[in-house]
Formats: sequence, C-alpha cells, structure tokens
Amino acid sequence: MMNNTATRIDWIGNSCRLLKATSAEFERTRPFAGLSIGTGIHLEPKTVALLMTLLAGGAKLVCTGNLNSTQPATVDYLQSQGVTVFATQTTDPAEHHRNLEAVVDARPDLLLDNGGDLFAIAAERPYANLLGGTEETTSGRTRLLPMREKLNMPILVINDSPIKQFAENKHAVGQSLFESYMRFTNRSTNGKRVTVFGYGACGRGTAACFRNAFSTVSVVDIDPVTALEAHLDGFVTPRREEAIRSADVLVTVTGFPDIVTAADLPLLKDGAILMNGGHFPWEIDVAGFRAHSDVAHIERYETDAMEALHLSDGRKFHILGGGHMANLAGPRPLGNSVESMDLGFTLQARCLERVAKGEVGAECCIVPVPKDIDAAVASAYLDLAR
Ligand SMILES: NC(=O)c1ccc[n+]([C@@H]2O[C@H](COP(=O)([O-])OP(=O)(O)OC[C@H]3O[C@@H](n4cnc5c(N)ncnc54)[C@H](O)[C@@H]3O)[C@@H](O)[C@H]2O)c1
Repeated sequence: MMNNTATRIDWIGNSCRLLKATSAEFERTRPFAGLSIGTGIHLEPKTVALLMTLLAGGAKLVCTGNLNSTQPATVDYLQSQGVTVFATQTTDPAEHHRNLEAVVDARPDLLLDNGGDLFAIAAERPYANLLGGTEETTSGRTRLLPMREKLNMPILVINDSPIKQFAENKHAVGQSLFESYMRFTNRSTNGKRVTVFGYGACGRGTAACFRNAFSTVSVVDIDPVTALEAHLDGFVTPRREEAIRSADVLVTVTGFPDIVTAADLPLLKDGAILMNGGHFPWEIDVAGFRAHSDVAHIERYETDAMEALHLSDGRKFHILGGGHMANLAGPRPLGNSVESMDLGFTLQARCLERVAKGEVGAECCIVPVPKDIDAAVASAYLDLAR
C-alpha cells in the first residue's frame, strides 16, 4: 500500500466535482487556447480549482487576490503551476492596487474580476485585445455600472445568477459567517442577541443561521420592503438605534460603507462583538472607532485577529478581523463551502468560455449569466447529487 501526503488544495480540488468534470472537458475543447486571463479574486484553495480549470482550457493566467485574503500556500502552488501571481497577504490598499495594476498591465484578453477592481482600471487604461470577462459580486456590479459606456464589452455578472444568489449568498455566506463567529471567538450563540445589517441574499442566510443556532436575531435594512420581509420571516425588526443597543453580536452585510460608525459608540452594549461579511472592509468604520477620543485603549489579540476597544466609561467592544470579510479573515479562514463555490466557479468558467468564443457581444455589458448556462450548471450538479 502506498501512502500519499495530500494537502488542503488537494482536498478542495477533489471536492469540486463540477469543476473537475469541466476541467476534463476543457482539456479536450481548449476554449482558451492562445488567450490570457487576468484574475482578481481571493487566492485560496477553492480559487485554485477554478484557475486549474482555466489552465486546462489552455489559458495563460495572470492573477492577483483581494485585500487581506491571500493565502501564501495558494500563491506558492499557483506559481509552481506556471501561473504569474502578483499578490501578497496585504491589508494595504495601495499595495493591493499596485498588484491589480500589474495584472491589467499584462494586457490579458479576458478579465475575471471580483469587486470591479480590474475592470475599473481597464476602463481608465483601455487596450485593444481585451475581449471582456466576468464580475463576481454585487459590489462589483454596482461599481461598474456607471462605467458601462467606457467598458462597452461583454461582462457577465456571476452574482446575478439565481444559482449564485441562493447557493452562495444565501446558504453559504450565512453558514460561513456563523462558522467564523464561532471560529474567531469560540463563544456560543445560544441566547445571544444578534443584529444583522442588510437583508439581501447574504443577510437572509446569516440571519437564518444565527436563528437556527438559538440566537434572537434582529434585522436592520434601509429598504422598508425588505425590512417587512424580514419581519414576516419572523425576525425582530426594531429601529436602528434599538437594534444596536440590544446586540451582543452585530453583523454587517450590506455592500455599503459606514453601516456602523463611531457615532454609534454611545449605543454599543458592553462586550458587543462587531463583524463584517460585506465585500469591502468599510461597513464598520474601524479606523474611526480606533481613533475616537472615547477609546481609552485597544487590546490586540494579534494571532486571533481580534481587538478589544476599551472605552473610558468602562465598556468594551470587540472587532473581528479588522472589519474585513470575517469568513476570509482570522485564523484558518475557510470561506464559503466548497459546494457553493464549485457551483459559482463553474458559472465563471462557462461564462468566460462564452466570452472567449465570441458568443456574446458588447450588448451584454454587465448583464446576468445567460439562462442556458444556469440551466446546464444546475443540471450537471443535480446529476452528480443523484
Ligand atoms: N463574505 C462573503 O463571502 C460574501 C459572498 C458574497 C457576497 N458578499 C458581499 O456581501 C454584501 C451583500 O451582498 P448581498 O448579495 O446580500 O447584497 P444585496 O444587495 O442583495 O443586499 C444588501 C441589502 O443591504 C441593505 N442595505 C443597504 N444599505 C443599508 C444600510 N445602511 N443599513 C441597512 N441595510 C442596508 C439593502 O437594502 C439590501 O437589502 C456585498 O458586499 C457582497 O459583495 C460577501
């Protein structure tokens, strides 16, 4: 009997069953032969499964990650596979921006974007061979829409697929934010009062996961129709002030800045824990909290990526992962479940294939995943699950 040492990257790769099947097909069909793809998406083991699928399809890859979430073992692995990587595990926006620019400067034929970072640079510095590509997130779509005329090329938005909405945003983000609260703090959720800001797809799953874990969950959403939905789903929907005042745990997952700021300091309950699940680290104004004159001192749990802010009135509160996406921050960040990412990344691979083949034109600039791709990916997943 032979024993092999397998890594996390192997585990994840073997768990991504749809991507494995797509990879085997791409080895035969080579949709990206002669093309390069620039990517700006979290560099962690699940992304490796996607990038290996694109490599199998003949692509040359130039990659960077997102702020704070780059995993060094992933970078080493990708480089060992001949992928060009411009990424370090940084929380410095300027350093991250230089990496993004390096990817665009390589003039890739296709871009796989997450948060609109790469396309925003390409809109400012257009180059002739850019065919289009994909955008992963809600935040990216919102950011790129005003640049539509400048971009004028097919950009398929993965987030707008119903599959991404329910498989990842609703079910997986909720599970992994809940898992991250436990992983960071090792504290229970039973009997805790949890306030979730934002009741979009991600917020719905987050609220449900904490409720299923025996917390009393309040929801705050600025859209009264969405807040009504939360109310009818059985969540408490107090006014914002009361929702903050009562919370043992506050989770932001809106996609917008300054959801909880230092102006809320008088409301925060002693011992409250603040965490963010939204794409950008701007939903909790961490810098504003740290600098506020009411903060007497900050206790940093360096290896656990937590901090306790002690107020001069004797209260304290905690911030997890510096306000970065908690499910990709802190010790051993796992991110969303493998199955959800296998689905979302197979949509990515199929959408990039479509753009590469020239089967979608500039009229498809910032549009959802084509319905036939959704149907094919859903059928393939169900076939594997039966
Ligand atoms: N952590 C992850 O792994 C992960 C995965 C997918 C998406 N995301 C990110 O999560 C965020 C939310 O995504 P979504 O798909 O749920 O978006 P969404 O647009 O479906 O929902 C956002 C909700 O927030 C509400 N909102 C906006 N401003 C608010 C405010 N000031 N106070 C309270 N509510 C407010 C909106 O009304 C909306 O209902 C985005 O930034 C997205 O990129 C994170």
